[in-house]
Amino acid sequence: MNKKTLRDIDVAGKKVLVRVDFNVPMKDGKINDDTRMVKALPTIKYLQEQKAKTILVTHLGRPKGKVVPEMSVKPIVEHLSELLGEEVLYARDCGGEDSRQVAEEMKEGQVLLLENARFYAEEEKNDPKMAEALARLADLYVNDAFGTAHRAHASTEGVAHHLPAVAGFLMEKEIEALSSAVGNPQKPFAAILGGAKVSDKISVMQNLLGKVDYLLVGGGMANTFLKAAGYETGKSLIEPEKLEVAQEILAEAKTSGAEVILPVDVVAADKFAEDASSQVVDVNNIPAQAMALDLGPATLKVFAEVINKAKTIVWNGPLGVYEFPKFAAGTNETARIVAEAEAKTIIGGGDVVAAVEKAGVAEKIYHISTGGGASLEFLEGKSLPGIVALQDR
Ligand code: 3PG
Repeated sequence: MNKKTLRDIDVAGKKVLVRVDFNVPMKDGKINDDTRMVKALPTIKYLQEQKAKTILVTHLGRPKGKVVPEMSVKPIVEHLSELLGEEVLYARDCGGEDSRQVAEEMKEGQVLLLENARFYAEEEKNDPKMAEALARLADLYVNDAFGTAHRAHASTEGVAHHLPAVAGFLMEKEIEALSSAVGNPQKPFAAILGGAKVSDKISVMQNLLGKVDYLLVGGGMANTFLKAAGYETGKSLIEPEKLEVAQEILAEAKTSGAEVILPVDVVAADKFAEDASSQVVDVNNIPAQAMALDLGPATLKVFAEVINKAKTIVWNGPLGVYEFPKFAAGTNETARIVAEAEAKTIIGGGDVVAAVEKAGVAEKIYHISTGGGASLEFLEGKSLPGIVALQDR
């Protein structure tokens, strides 16, 4: 990696401001999934071992620059204390008077979490005043928030211009895993793309076309591709304004040597509902009144053949209406096939990560990204401002 990391600087006894992405799913004031917190522990524990004073900053939800008590980081402070086995300090603001006071009184090895950065409109505006106020709290800056690296905000980008700024261990792992897959993949390289909309994935497809050997398409977006390829898709969700670009992608694939693999059969339902009646049909025979809500078994067989040949796999987006159990087989089965495959597999996006976890195969996956939007932008070939702002080696 061409960016400096925690290992390249001396943090012993220093005050270190660490941007983490503790934007964890919450329900009724409780944390639903603490993966993002657990994955940031190596950085935090390393800093503790080095007797640094660790000042953590995160956002939680989208409070839009206002104090929203339900989006306070207090439950996170409590949970982090449990994870670390010692009390984590809390500051009532993010770079203000309370942050300064608590940071001033910190002892070596202690950890402090500031209140939600997005309670301040200055955060998302990347206001230099907020960046400077945060920078004044510390001697060094570490960005370990890969999930938020695609946002140029005061705590992710602005602050990096005011302190020596390096990547944390999670950030390093994410960048290395994603760049080795996209930049230097072991071949054959297969990308599995799903999700409801073609529009969300066009840039990823365009960026991956010259790199992959196979592009497996599922989810709602596959319907637009089927239609573009000349199939009748009944009442399936399609994006008419994207038919042309879908056709262009299919044509481009032919010249770039990537094989685009579309479903050969689908689970067609009479309505978009959990209790819909459904049948497996060949893509040549989708009834006029039916809508495709999942991949069929013949498609899964084709997908399995490709996945079993691949040495590198990138997967983003669910392959059917995963939230309805009846139409989750395509996504769940693919999770199992991918987990059993020999390939180096990299997964991103909340739905796919949840599917892999539900299938109980998460530990067999080479890399599960903590970034949804961030991993997608990385796969699009974009530079992420939170990474760009860090010091080069
Ligand atoms: C995420 O959950 O993808 C990140 O924390 C970024 O959150 P945002 O989409 O609200 O910027």
